[in-house]
Amino acid sequence: MTQEKTDTASTQSRRAQAIGIIVREHQGLWRTLDLLDQLQFDMNINEQRPDEKLFVTIFDYIQHFARRVHSQPSEITLYRLLGARDPELKPLLGKLSNGYLVGNEKLNELRELLKTCMENWPQGRQEFSHALARFTEALRKHIKKEEGVVIPRARELLSDEDWREIVEARDQENDPLFGDRVRDEFKELRHRIVSYTPERFGGLGLQHAERITPKGEHKEMLSVENVATSYGQIEVIHDVSIRINAGEIVSLVGANGAGKSTLLMILSGLQPVDRGKLTFEGRDLLRVPSEKRVADGIVQVPEGRQVFKDLSVQDNLMLGAYTRGRSPEVTEDLEQMYNKFPILRQKRHNLAGELSGGQQQMLAMGRALMSRPRLLLLDEPSMGLAPLIVEEIFNIIRELKEEGITIFLVEQNASQALALADRGYVLETGNVVVEGTGRELLSNEKVREAYLGM
Ligand SMILES: Nc1ncnc2c1ncn2[C@@H]1O[C@H](COP(=O)(O)OP(=O)(O)O)[C@@H](O)[C@H]1O
Ligand SMILES: [Mg+2]
Repeated sequence: MTQEKTDTASTQSRRAQAIGIIVREHQGLWRTLDLLDQLQFDMNINEQRPDEKLFVTIFDYIQHFARRVHSQPSEITLYRLLGARDPELKPLLGKLSNGYLVGNEKLNELRELLKTCMENWPQGRQEFSHALARFTEALRKHIKKEEGVVIPRARELLSDEDWREIVEARDQENDPLFGDRVRDEFKELRHRIVSYTPERFGGLGLQHAERITPKGEHKEMLSVENVATSYGQIEVIHDVSIRINAGEIVSLVGANGAGKSTLLMILSGLQPVDRGKLTFEGRDLLRVPSEKRVADGIVQVPEGRQVFKDLSVQDNLMLGAYTRGRSPEVTEDLEQMYNKFPILRQKRHNLAGELSGGQQQMLAMGRALMSRPRLLLLDEPSMGLAPLIVEEIFNIIRELKEEGITIFLVEQNASQALALADRGYVLETGNVVVEGTGRELLSNEKVREAYLGM
């Protein structure tokens, strides 16, 4: 009995240890990917010449990881053991192993494209940038598969003996997930990346908020309790309950017509409720009229941007501050908006209607930010935008969270919206059908099938 207990405890700690190592390595990669996104943004939107040595160090870092596996893909102990336990996982595990090989080649291509881009700047930028976007997307997918499928399945299926073997494999220098020596090399590379990273990006892991919100840290900001609403005789939202905590990104995903926009309209006070309760920072929101909600900090960026096309970019931004009157602070905020979205500064005298879709989305977000929201409601910000621009919009959303703005993100683009989210909800024909952390939803069978096409 006692022996058994000890065994179980040590197995759990071995498992925790092994998973801890993988998760930390993934976090390192996630941050590197975030940094690549920021550099990408800087290059495309701010038209900054890339810093070659920073890019090269980042490529070294990722490639190092890939190369370690490249030498012996069969030696990812975890993959081997997991494949033996569940043969159905073998194709996925094979694909993931192969991903390391392909990634390695892609990195070599990126190095070449970077060289060309530097030599002929700004020509060649687009080609480099597109290849980079494809690469980061593929790597994100890879990590998500590991985190969403491989690790949870390993937790379930691997035996005590398996975990012992996996942890013992840590001593094999060439196992990239477990080799101590290899991890020291990664650490060294990471330090180099940090030292090359411009301060405004905060370096690797310095400014980045935890992806997973620590439990109990965030106070409830908004609660929707059993709310229903109808258009005429037809009820389209049925007893929906949702909670948003201060500082979180909460994503609401669901197909066209599910009722996502209607729910946002309820929060903005533009759609009446049939029944239920809305509370914002402890107060009954149903008593607060729509105009007053903006002043209270609930601000919506509507679907399809809806900027004032015949007004200048600057006038659009100033309209966002209408609840605040004209003050030196507003002028300061305008300046900040231009720093956040340099393209808007460049086009401040243009009519909003002359901007591209992505620029209009930035303008719509800038306008909302001018009213100093505490809870920002975003209705399908990525709709109709090219993948590269979508990445940029999602990066901005991430930045806003880091600035302390709470975000309720409504999206049909489920994979990206959930990857970004602390927590999420799935809405189907007016009902919340699944809820959980962003990660949980990404790995939820039902969500994967219906919304992620996997
Ligand atoms: N103004 C309206 N009048 C009547 N029905 C509407 C109106 N707006 C939306 N609907 C209907 O309500 C349901 C939810 O729509 P909506 O909230 O726009 O969904 P989503 O934003 O998820 O695409 C859909 O069946 C839609 O046809
Ligand atoms: Mg909608």
